[in-house]
Amino acid sequence: MRQGKKVSIIGAGNVGSTVAYSLCMLGTAHEVILRDSKTEIACGKALDMSQAAAVVRSHTKVHVAEDASQIEDSDIVVVTAGSPRRPGMSRDDLLVINAEVMRGIAQDIKTHAPNAIVIVVTNPLDPMTYVMWRETGFDKSRVIGMAGLLDSARMASFIYEKLGYGSGQIRATVLGGHGDDMVPVRRYSTVAGVPLTDLMADSEIDKIVERTKNAGAEIVGYLQNGSAYYAPAKATAKMCEAILRDSRQIYPCAVLLEGEYGYEDVVTGVPIVLGANGMEKIIEVTLNEKEKALFDRSVGSVKGLIQTLYDRNFYS
Ligand code: 2OP
Repeated sequence: MRQGKKVSIIGAGNVGSTVAYSLCMLGTAHEVILRDSKTEIACGKALDMSQAAAVVRSHTKVHVAEDASQIEDSDIVVVTAGSPRRPGMSRDDLLVINAEVMRGIAQDIKTHAPNAIVIVVTNPLDPMTYVMWRETGFDKSRVIGMAGLLDSARMASFIYEKLGYGSGQIRATVLGGHGDDMVPVRRYSTVAGVPLTDLMADSEIDKIVERTKNAGAEIVGYLQNGSAYYAPAKATAKMCEAILRDSRQIYPCAVLLEGEYGYEDVVTGVPIVLGANGMEKIIEVTLNEKEKALFDRSVGSVKGLIQTLYDRNFYS
């Protein structure tokens, strides 16, 4: 009989292993499982992390799953596996390659962890979450994409950098797909409850909005051979915490829409209540005409990617 909470992480590259490390430092999960095609490297990371957990007297243990069956009984499965985004490559270029990867992982999850909540981190995020939802056949409340929390945190960090005050009091909101036309919503961004629009000129907010949309690419440009992982991993660990502790926080996450915001059969980033049952509620915020147009364009891009999966015979 398993004690405590178990989180399995499929893909132990930079993002996956940093999620595991964050969970070790938080100590909420009793066991973290790493699964990666590079087993030896995963074993080294697992040992290192278990020892880091001992430094902070956390009880989290990290093990490597050499076989998919070792993810059994996971409360959460985090999926980061997939081809990485390289300089000059858009998130969308990764589409079909990573959809095939999702298909294989979904089979393993269905077989070995049929009650898990799945957090998808692999890009392109929204269609990959859609593929995971379809391939597992799980209720939409149990298949959730990560990126809204990351994009909102990036916007908050840029607001703080510009203002120079209010860190920890900034609430930024980014909706829509995790693509080049994501929708940072200035009207729902505040510092200690004060609307951002009362604190900064529109032209300054415009720059922050643009930088937020390009934040992933900005980091890829510096790293050259990889993409961001500290913030994506921390955002993922924060989602795991909300589920493991049943804290029922409102976070922007990518989920299947079935009529909400006027859309069907598409995944996109919207505010949700996240707790022990996964996505417990989708919050429908009021968007003005301009915001709705931007949101529509972003959802339209995700729909286009899902259509590409049909056009390329991934779905028939
Ligand atoms: C990012 O935005 C790669 O999607 C990832 O950094």
